Amino acid sequence: MVRDKKADSIIASKIDALLPLMTLEEKIGQMTQVRHFDDITEEEVATRFIGSIIHTEGSDPGKTALDWQLKFKKFQEIALSTRLGIPLLFGVDAVHGQNTFDGATIFPHNIGLGASGNAELVKKAASITALEARATGFNWVFSPCVAIPYNEKWGRVYEAFSESTELTTKLTRASVEGHQGSFSDPRKVMATTKHFIGDGATDYGQEGGETSLSRKEVNEYLLPPYKAAIELGVGSVMTSFNTLNGISMHAHKDLITDTLKKEMKFDGIVVSDWKGYSKYGENATVNGGIDMVMAVDGDLEMFQKGLLEAVKKGEVSIDRINDAVRRILRQKYRLGLFENPFPDPELIQEIGSDEHRAVARQAVRESLVLLKNEKNILPLEKILPKIVVVGEHADSAGLQSGGWTIDWQGADRNYQGATTILEGIKKLARGEVIYDQHATNVQEDADVAIIFIGEKPYAEFFGDVGHEVSDFELFLTESHKHYIDAYANKGVKTVVVLLSGRPLVTTKEIDQSDAFVAAWLPGSEGDGVAEVLFGDHDFKGKLPHSWPKSIDDYKSKYGPNFWDDSIEPLFPFGFGLQYN
Ligand code: BGC
Repeated sequence: MVRDKKADSIIASKIDALLPLMTLEEKIGQMTQVRHFDDITEEEVATRFIGSIIHTEGSDPGKTALDWQLKFKKFQEIALSTRLGIPLLFGVDAVHGQNTFDGATIFPHNIGLGASGNAELVKKAASITALEARATGFNWVFSPCVAIPYNEKWGRVYEAFSESTELTTKLTRASVEGHQGSFSDPRKVMATTKHFIGDGATDYGQEGGETSLSRKEVNEYLLPPYKAAIELGVGSVMTSFNTLNGISMHAHKDLITDTLKKEMKFDGIVVSDWKGYSKYGENATVNGGIDMVMAVDGDLEMFQKGLLEAVKKGEVSIDRINDAVRRILRQKYRLGLFENPFPDPELIQEIGSDEHRAVARQAVRESLVLLKNEKNILPLEKILPKIVVVGEHADSAGLQSGGWTIDWQGADRNYQGATTILEGIKKLARGEVIYDQHATNVQEDADVAIIFIGEKPYAEFFGDVGHEVSDFELFLTESHKHYIDAYANKGVKTVVVLLSGRPLVTTKEIDQSDAFVAAWLPGSEGDGVAEVLFGDHDFKGKLPHSWPKSIDDYKSKYGPNFWDDSIEPLFPFGFGLQYN
């Protein structure tokens, strides 16, 4: 997107007129983001001059999408009724569809989109996410995560597209375009590239840990997706919990102010991450260049008071405050919120529509990576007399969707509008389909066993594996190994489908099975998996990460940029078989 210089200069004059009218308290208010529950009362939106409201997994704003809209409309009316009538930004963690709303279209997590490598598809998915976010009352999403994971022990590998900078950059471009469009379009939202910077490259893959990379490595490997996003006018950037060579990224003036804002010419909002102010350096965060603070979970008072005092004492300059507020107002004007502050009820009917789900199903199909297909056991014939399906992941929308789905850490239950993979299989198979969930009723006479194995849902912090190279979480659980043993040992043909947020050490299991599919975390449209297994569509996915052969591959940083000759992955980046 090329910025409209004329429109921007009109906006600049409007800000020039508005800024001098604002008190210091009103300015700090604009820099404040809070949750819609617990953190504030409705009245406090006005008395504390709040600039933005966040919703993440947790307490819902209501039951129906209309309830959500009305709740946020009320907050907006209160903000507009204040002396200066500055509208609120409403932000949401919609990271693979509007995943906080039960009934939304849920796309494969970014790792799966990375496997698809299809920029046009990523753009469409982002555009649908934007629309469903708008339909539930938001004008801002905290996505895409443009991390480049260098350690598969990190619990957020799946939120990122790939270990490849090039692929990540290409899909970041598509995602930003899809979310934002022309920016002022009321069916679009402001996007956020996160987490700036080094989130996926910490030692041992620890969330918020220490990232030890040289400046050259940061420039070469991690900055390109941000550069591409800024060229396309991305509206915001979120700082990361990690330190970079010992310096907190929430207070990293060199990278936030000098590099991102000055050198790379980012003119949007730098937003902190959760409790960024209290946890990662207080006023040093604002001095470092953070414009808006997630003053959540009890931080509101200490943030507003702390910053006010710091400005009065000269510890934070008024110029820095004015710059932050200018950036926030700029995006509010650019989004057209002054003229068009309320959600549109007309959009509600589009949430989870057939059209949206068709795109999500295509994304599922294109995300699947075929790692092995001995004797062309796949595609399966629909007329096979007896198919047995094994594993709890086969029949759970929650398990197939991973973290950041309905609940913060994900859930193992079904949710509205989703189709499980087993349902998809039953739709296509013409013979008998038996579900032997825990391989306790082995069907020795089955023509094929489709065995589902994988990880339980997790999100930030909870998905980290830990420090030891011998950590068992990167292997399958004993019960999942048993699913494969139970059928393979009886000579039944096995198609193994792995549902996981990252590559796991599955060398033995791949060896044991006749066909092996990496399906990542497909989201709400499980039938997309069945459509490829039965050959209605070919495999298209290519590995977005190199696939480890052994746990030793995870020593220090993972991936071709860091390996010496001693490591040879089981399958290289970009690997993926096809029927034709
Ligand atoms: C996560 C972010 C997320 C934010 C808001 C943080 O804990 O790191 O990715 O956008 O919470 O929910």
